[in-house]
Amino acid sequence: MLSFPSTLTRRSRPLLLLSLVSTARSLSSIPPPPPLTHPGIHPPITPTSIKPWLKSLKGSIVITGATGGIGSCIVNDLIEGVGEGERIYALSRKVEGSSISKSWDPEIVTPVNWDCSTDDPMPSFLEEGEKVKLIIHTAALLNGSHGPEKNLKSINQTHFLNSLNTNTYSLIKIYQSLLPHLSPPTHFYPTLINLSARVGSITDDKSGGWWSYRISKTASNHAQVLAGIEVNRQRHKCNFLSVHPGTTYTDLSSPFVKGVGGKVHSKEFTAERILELVAGCEEEGSGGFYDWTGQSLPF
Ligand SMILES: NC(=O)c1ccc[n+]([C@@H]2O[C@H](COP(=O)([O-])OP(=O)(O)OC[C@H]3O[C@@H](n4cnc5c(N)ncnc54)[C@H](OP(=O)(O)O)[C@@H]3O)[C@@H](O)[C@H]2O)c1
Repeated sequence: MLSFPSTLTRRSRPLLLLSLVSTARSLSSIPPPPPLTHPGIHPPITPTSIKPWLKSLKGSIVITGATGGIGSCIVNDLIEGVGEGERIYALSRKVEGSSISKSWDPEIVTPVNWDCSTDDPMPSFLEEGEKVKLIIHTAALLNGSHGPEKNLKSINQTHFLNSLNTNTYSLIKIYQSLLPHLSPPTHFYPTLINLSARVGSITDDKSGGWWSYRISKTASNHAQVLAGIEVNRQRHKCNFLSVHPGTTYTDLSSPFVKGVGGKVHSKEFTAERILELVAGCEEEGSGGFYDWTGQSLPF
């Protein structure tokens, strides 16, 4: 029921009603907006060498899942590009003292044990005043005692929550710990890449299954969008990307790659492609979901 402001006289009320009706009519004659292209679609990224990017921005680098297939290759690729006073922090649950950590130059790479699925805070490894220019989160859970689930019947709360903690909530801990320490931008922006997965795309999902992994990756994509909105509203600037690395031979994928044939990449190939996306991303790509070639994927 329409109620009139009490200040209106009885005479002016019909006039107000008439003017409301005519406003409604004129609004209905405004043509509808053009149909939206998918709101998640971002401009493509042109992959490019990361060397100028690494030189231009000053700060350290944080790689999670550093003992993993893709994460360890990313660490190896970055070692040569680190400038004076900059470090690479290589995180995973059991990286300290691991054989892979012994192959890294201790002057450049600091291994840090961190179980990103627990509620423990991220260890504070940065020196006073140290800045961070690049964070690549590759740690993830796909297989566990109950995953990945083929159907509804096999979903188990423990595995579901572990997946959310490892693949999604871990990102929030990274934001809380590291975003206050971002390097000041040059003509490049500091960047946070979350290795997501195409199976986290709702639009692209034609086959179902893998409930916990898919849902946790979908949620991680949204977390990246939220972080982009919130952080870039403040004084910090950072590009936030969700990246599907492409099917790559690693421990995570090995039980599932039979039959995928020549479409499976080596971990070295994938690591290089991911670093080229860091360098090619412009501000308007932030919040986007991309594959390893720089094509935007639908959320
Ligand atoms: N390989 C593919 O085909 C493929 C396809 C699509 C998406 N991806 C995504 O790409 C990323 C990297 O995958 P990948 O194939 O390189 O996997 P991977 O070889 O299995 O490596 C996973 C890494 O995550 C770490 N990790 C697992 N749980 C952890 C936890 N609770 N806390 C801290 N670290 C943990 C593991 O180290 P510790 O066990 O030592 O902790 C390991 O270093 C993942 O996000 C994955 O979802 C991969």
